[in-house]
Parts: sequence; structure tokens; C-alpha cells
Amino acid sequence: MKIITLNDEAAIGQAIGDRFCALLQENPSAVLGLATGASPIPSYQHMISRFKAGAVSFAKARTFNLDEYCDLPAEHPQSYRSFMHAQLFSQVDIDPQNTHFLDGNATDEAAECSRFDALIERFGGVDLQLLGIGRNGHIGFNEPADTFTQGSFKVQLAPSTLEANSGYFSGEHMPTHAMTMGVGAILRAKEIVLVATGAAKAEAVKAMIQGEITPQLPASALQNHPNVTVYLDPAAASLL
Ligand code: F6R
Repeated sequence: MKIITLNDEAAIGQAIGDRFCALLQENPSAVLGLATGASPIPSYQHMISRFKAGAVSFAKARTFNLDEYCDLPAEHPQSYRSFMHAQLFSQVDIDPQNTHFLDGNATDEAAECSRFDALIERFGGVDLQLLGIGRNGHIGFNEPADTFTQGSFKVQLAPSTLEANSGYFSGEHMPTHAMTMGVGAILRAKEIVLVATGAAKAEAVKAMIQGEITPQLPASALQNHPNVTVYLDPAAASLL
């Protein structure tokens, strides 16, 4: 793993946004793996500013999002589909038909997970995957578990994830389950960039980089990937 510590979220967003833009300049139909949450927002903002400057186009890009809540209408403002629309898709020239999500409301959950995994493979796999990390070391919504997950599946969210994300649901009941790409599928991406900012992530970051590889800390699996860059701010890097 390559570890890069930068001064603040804006600098990290610029570095990651530039990496995505460079890939799209090289390969306009690249397959992008995208994340939601607070961590990737500065990266999306930088991509939008590069698009507005005429430096990059998303017209031929294809995207796959890591995860989606179950039992939440797709048009709910806190669905990850809505998040991506607000934070990136509505502000660049991406073709909505080229943006892919797990359907957290599918009645046949196993079939939906197989559909999503097969679609990623059909487009040649993810070229560049953006990740955040949970305070408990989750990537996507792969919570601490006894074994590493492989393909997409439905997961019960861990108490720390419910606590971390409940603020977004202001008084409303937050979903307790989600569908997520598995750790094995995430590791098949050709290149991975992970962003972690703030002191609340410092312990998970230390365990991811310096701890043993264990499904109890799902992000530790990234130690096995040949092309991972971890971007940290000083607070997230403080225990290294
Ligand atoms: C979101 C996702 C999660 C988040 C993680 C960190 O699609 O897959 O793993 O990246 O929960 O969330 P933030 O960035 O909000 O701290």
C-alpha cells in the first residue's frame, strides 16, 4: 500500500479527483467504482470542477456504486442513488444509463446480487475503485465478520455504522440493512484509492495498514492488493 498524507480534505480531493480525470483522459470508457458518504465528496467536487473547465468528460464512463440501502425508496434523498445524482452525476456529462447500483428493494436479493456482479464482469471489471473506510474498518458495507465476503450480498449494518450514519436520517428510521459489493469483488479492481480523514478513523487506519489481515477488519484485505493508494489527513494518520 502506498500511504500519502496531505494537509486537508481539499488537497486529498484534488489528488484523487485528478487521478480519476487522468484515467478518463487515457481511457474515456473506463469503469469507475464509486463510494458515498462524506469522504469522497471533495474528490467529486474536484472532478466537477475539472469537467466544468473542459478538462475531462464522463460521457463514455461507466460507474458501479459499492452499496445501497435496503428498504429505502430509490428516490429517497438519503439513498445512495440520490447521493450520487446530487454529488456528481447531475453536474457532469455522464449518461445515467451507464451508472449502476445494487437495487436494495429487489425482492429476489440473490438474483439482484448476481446481476450486479455479472454486469461488472461484462464490462471488464472496475478500473479504478474509490473507497472510504468505516470506524470499524468496513469497506463498502462489509462489516467485521468471520470470513471475507466475495460477491455482492445483503448485510445487516453494524451498530457503529448505524450510529455513524443515523445523523443523515434526522429523526427518520434509518435502514438496518444494505446490499454491498463483497471484499473479494472490491479486490478485483485494477487500482484502488482509499480516503480517510479525521481522528475517528485513526484506529481503523492503523489496523488496516499495520494490523493482521483479518475479516474482523475488512479493510486489512487491501494489504493483499498490488495497487492501493491510501490518502490520509494528519488526524487519520495520527496513530501510524
Ligand atoms: C459508502 C461506503 C462506506 C463509507 C464509510 C465511510 O459507499 O461504502 O464504506 O465509505 O462508511 O463513510 P464516511 O466517508 O461518511 O465517513
